[in-house]
Amino acid sequence: MLISPAVYAERRARFFQALGGAAAVLPAAPLVTHHADCEWPFRQNSDFWYLTGFDEPDAVALFLPHRPEGERFVLFVNPKEPSAEVWNGFRWGCEGAVAQFGADLAHPRSELAQRLPEYLSGAEGIAFRVGKHAAVEPLVLQAWAGQLDRAPRSGAAALGLVAPCPLLHALRLRKSPEELDRMREAARISAEAHELARQVARPGLNERQVQAVIEQHFLEQGARGAAYNSIVAGGDNACVLHYTSNNAQLRDGDLLLIDAGCSLNDYYNGDITRTFPINGHFTGEQRALYELVLAAQEAAVAAVAPGQTAEGVHETAVRVLVQGLVDLGLLAGEIDGIIEQGAYRHLYMHRTGHWLGLDVHDVGAYRLGEHHNALEPGMVLTVEPGLYVSDRLAVPEGQPAIEDRWKGIGIRIEDDVAVTEHSHENLTASALKAPAAMER
Ligand code: GLY
Ligand code: MN
Ligand code: MN
Repeated sequence: MLISPAVYAERRARFFQALGGAAAVLPAAPLVTHHADCEWPFRQNSDFWYLTGFDEPDAVALFLPHRPEGERFVLFVNPKEPSAEVWNGFRWGCEGAVAQFGADLAHPRSELAQRLPEYLSGAEGIAFRVGKHAAVEPLVLQAWAGQLDRAPRSGAAALGLVAPCPLLHALRLRKSPEELDRMREAARISAEAHELARQVARPGLNERQVQAVIEQHFLEQGARGAAYNSIVAGGDNACVLHYTSNNAQLRDGDLLLIDAGCSLNDYYNGDITRTFPINGHFTGEQRALYELVLAAQEAAVAAVAPGQTAEGVHETAVRVLVQGLVDLGLLAGEIDGIIEQGAYRHLYMHRTGHWLGLDVHDVGAYRLGEHHNALEPGMVLTVEPGLYVSDRLAVPEGQPAIEDRWKGIGIRIEDDVAVTEHSHENLTASALKAPAAMER
C-alpha cells in the first residue's frame, strides 16, 4: 500500500518537534539537463519527498514552527499554467499543494525571493543545507543577512544557520512499518528480476540483453525503473566495482555478476547482487570463492540484530573472508595481523554494506566520532561482501602472488536486511543464492 497523507503529516510533526524554534527551508530537486534541451527523468530530492510526498521539480518547502497554527507548512510550487502543462504535463499548482499535500499555504515558486524574508522572520535559527541548492541558497542567505542587518533595531534575528540533515536523517534512518512494506515490495520485484536474469543468461548474449530483461521486469511490475545504474558484469568486468557499460559478450566459463534493484514510484529501493556461472557450472576455483563469499555473507546477515553495529557486520564478513582466503592460499599469515594491516584489500576493497531507503546509499550516521552507532529495529542495511581477483591492485608485501587460475573472478552477494525487534528480516531472501541454485 502506498504511504498515506497521514504518514507524511506525522513525519512533519516529528520534524517540527526536532526543529525546536528553528525554521527549515527544504528545496525540491530541479530538473537536470542530460544533453542539449533534453532532461534526465525527474528524480525528487529524498528529504523533500520524505516530508511532502510532492513529486514536482523546483518546489520549496518551509517549516515554520515560530508561526501561528495554519501558517507553519508552506509550499512554493510551479503554479498551474496550461501552456506549460501542454508540453510537460500536469501540475498540482498552489490549490493542489494545499488540498492534496497538506500545505497550510502555497504560493507560486516565483514569489519565494519576495516572501522568504517575512516567513523566516522571528525564527530562532534557520535549518538549511548549504552547498546543495544553488538556486535557493542565495535567497536564504540574503534573508538571514537582512535579519542580521536589522537586528540592532528589530531586536531579533535567527542566531545561526544549522544543518537540517542530522535531525531529518535520524528520522529517515529508522523505517516505519509502512516504509518497510514498501521496501518489501521493492525487494520482491528486484529479486524476481534476478531470478529471470539467471534463467536467460547464456554464453554469447551481450550483458546489455540481460540488463534489458531485468529492467523490463522493473517496469512491467510498475516500478519507476532501476534504482541505480544496473551492473551486469561478465567475467573480469565484475572486478570493476562500478562497471556499468554492460556491453560485453558473455563468455562460456565466466561468472556473471549482476547488481541491480528497482526504484518504486515512491522511491523506495531494492539493491541486490547475485553472481552465477554463465554456462550453468562453476569451475573449482569459482565454486571455492563463491562458497567463501556466501559463508561471509551469511555470517554477516546472521550478525544483524539490535545492539550490533554496521562496523560489527563488516568485521564479521572480513574475518570469514580472510580465514577462507588463507585456507585457499590466496593470503598468508595470521588472521588478526592480516585484518589489522588491511592486507586483504587487494581482494576485498569495499565496505560490507550501507543504509538503504529512499536513497540507495541512504542517509543516517554510521558513527559519532569513535563510537559506532548501534543498529535499531527499523534500520535497513545491505549486506554485500565480495571478492575480486584481478591484477588491478598490487599484492601487498608479504602476501602471495595470485596464480592465473584465480584471475578474472569477481563475486558479490548482496541482500537487503531490516533490523527487527530481536533479530533481522532478510527482505531479499526470495532471490536464491545457494550454490546449487546458481547452477543448472
Ligand atoms: N548498487 C550499489 C551498491 O551496491 O552499493
Ligand atoms: Mn548493489
Ligand atoms: Mn549496495
